[in-house]
Amino acid sequence: MNALAATIAAIILTTLSAEGAAVDGDPNPVDDPKDWWRKTVFYQIYPRSFKDSDGDGIGDLRGITQNMEYFVDAGIGAIWLSPIFKSPMVDFGYDISDFREIHYEYGTMQDFEDLVAKAKKLNLKVVLDFVPNHSSTESDYFKLSVNRTAGYEDFLVWDDGLIDPVDNSRKPPSNWVSQFQGSAWQWNEQRQQYYLRQFSEQQPDLNYRNPAVMKEMSSVLTFWLDKGVDGFRVDALPYMMEADKELHGGRYPDDPLSYAPGIGPDELGYTVPIYSKDQEDTYAIVIQWRALLDEYSKKDGKTRVMLTEGYANLTMTMKYYGNSTHEGSYVPFNFDFITELNGKSNARDLVYKTTRWLTYVPTGKYPNWVFGNHDNSRVATRFGSHLVDGLNMLDMLLPGVAITYQGDELGMEDGYVSWEDTVDVSGCNAGQDKYQTFSRDPERTPFQWDNTTNAGFSSATKTWLPVAQNYMTLNLARQKESPRSHFKVYKALAAARAKPTLQEGAWNLRALSDQVFALTRTLEGHETLSMVMNMGSGRETADMSVLKELPQTLNVYVASIDSNKNPGDSIQANSVSLEAGESVVFTSASLECSS
Ligand code: GLC
Ligand code: MG
Repeated sequence: MNALAATIAAIILTTLSAEGAAVDGDPNPVDDPKDWWRKTVFYQIYPRSFKDSDGDGIGDLRGITQNMEYFVDAGIGAIWLSPIFKSPMVDFGYDISDFREIHYEYGTMQDFEDLVAKAKKLNLKVVLDFVPNHSSTESDYFKLSVNRTAGYEDFLVWDDGLIDPVDNSRKPPSNWVSQFQGSAWQWNEQRQQYYLRQFSEQQPDLNYRNPAVMKEMSSVLTFWLDKGVDGFRVDALPYMMEADKELHGGRYPDDPLSYAPGIGPDELGYTVPIYSKDQEDTYAIVIQWRALLDEYSKKDGKTRVMLTEGYANLTMTMKYYGNSTHEGSYVPFNFDFITELNGKSNARDLVYKTTRWLTYVPTGKYPNWVFGNHDNSRVATRFGSHLVDGLNMLDMLLPGVAITYQGDELGMEDGYVSWEDTVDVSGCNAGQDKYQTFSRDPERTPFQWDNTTNAGFSSATKTWLPVAQNYMTLNLARQKESPRSHFKVYKALAAARAKPTLQEGAWNLRALSDQVFALTRTLEGHETLSMVMNMGSGRETADMSVLKELPQTLNVYVASIDSNKNPGDSIQANSVSLEAGESVVFTSASLECSS
């Protein structure tokens, strides 16, 4: 291309408009075979609650396939599916009885192949959940191991337990506590031994000190790669390894006690899990799986991504990225917006926590931001619905991978789920008095498509979880029609992700007051983008001119739904008035050519 042609091409690119916005840069970042994962938006689908195609009250694969255009429309490039594998559904698919089969309520292998085929056509990436820590008591692994079948004797973590010197009774091998309440050790009558279960008693941990287990689970990865998936989200990594009892005189060491008031020995938090969580040998497993993915990618040069789940402290979380000689996870989930920040946080907290993560990310690695998922109260409920747009702006404007949980693009709120309707094992195990603290059902209620029966999720008389009561007013159809909506803000933001400034640009984070948060993104030769958010309960006037990288006049790119500012408005940087909860994204580019 000669210089003139290049200039013309650049002009055409920058004037293509997407939802009122000039597009500057690669309009389809997913086309980049190597770096697609850091340029796109990942969207977590909870299949059971997304869309029910066959009227049984349960979301399924066809429901996803039939509505796949939605992701393209929203500007999402990669979908991650929570587990779709054969399961007795004690933990709604996180208890897998056959890692190579599709669960019947979700469809067939053919349905899955159709899903992948359509995704390829639409240029969408498909990421599967991989749950290596445990299987199900209905899996062959468990059954064969209980029977001590040759080759499977040590597939699980078995132990005789301890004999109480006083009454000769048998006790669990250690004081480790399950994530879902009770001892992490479960007695098995048939084998006359305890097995480890970090989650429910129907989720026996696999034994990663046994090379045969590693081999088997690696072959599960290859099985799905061969089906055409683009990567995996790896579940519950901090619980993969436990202290090696051979290094502790032949018995599993007790975790120290936390002495937290009011917490009994059967309750999470009773101990400080130094022997049952975050063990150093966990990271070697991640490195091995990364190597497997990289090896696979050599075939065609397309990156197969790995996102990893680990609720852990900052030091232990960063280790998932790998070390100086070996690559680990591409995206070790950053849960700070769930665990460190909430509706009580102010602008200074926000700057402090986001800067903290950006500071600790190893050189050459890429940050990421998780705002919600199927295990935590929804972002609109945790932070307040007035901050939904501002938080989606952060998701898209902060440097790094953007991740959205199904429904958060609409500002869906936690649904009310009574004790009678509670189905989450974590809620059920906590009992009627405490279920609301532990149940994850509220953030899993069905996706709110429209204002028809069951929010358009299903034609069944009863859905597996009740639909949230606010669906008549809070739903996708309405948000598509309204002149302003969370969805439209989200869509404008997702479109902006392709801009080189957001891909490569420098950043600056600033609290302009206790309540006013500001972020700028700059890249030489490209437009400057910035955002401001009033997190407080009163009106503020922000002086954004203290951010020297900004021009004196700012053009509104998109604003929160209650804002009186409109795309294309020009505002003086030294006096930006902001109502409570208002947030705005500005660009230095002119929006004249937009619709
Ligand atoms: C992860 C999942 C959660 C599940 C647990 C056990 O934390 O996100 O839903 O219950 O692992 O698999
Ligand atoms: Mg169904």
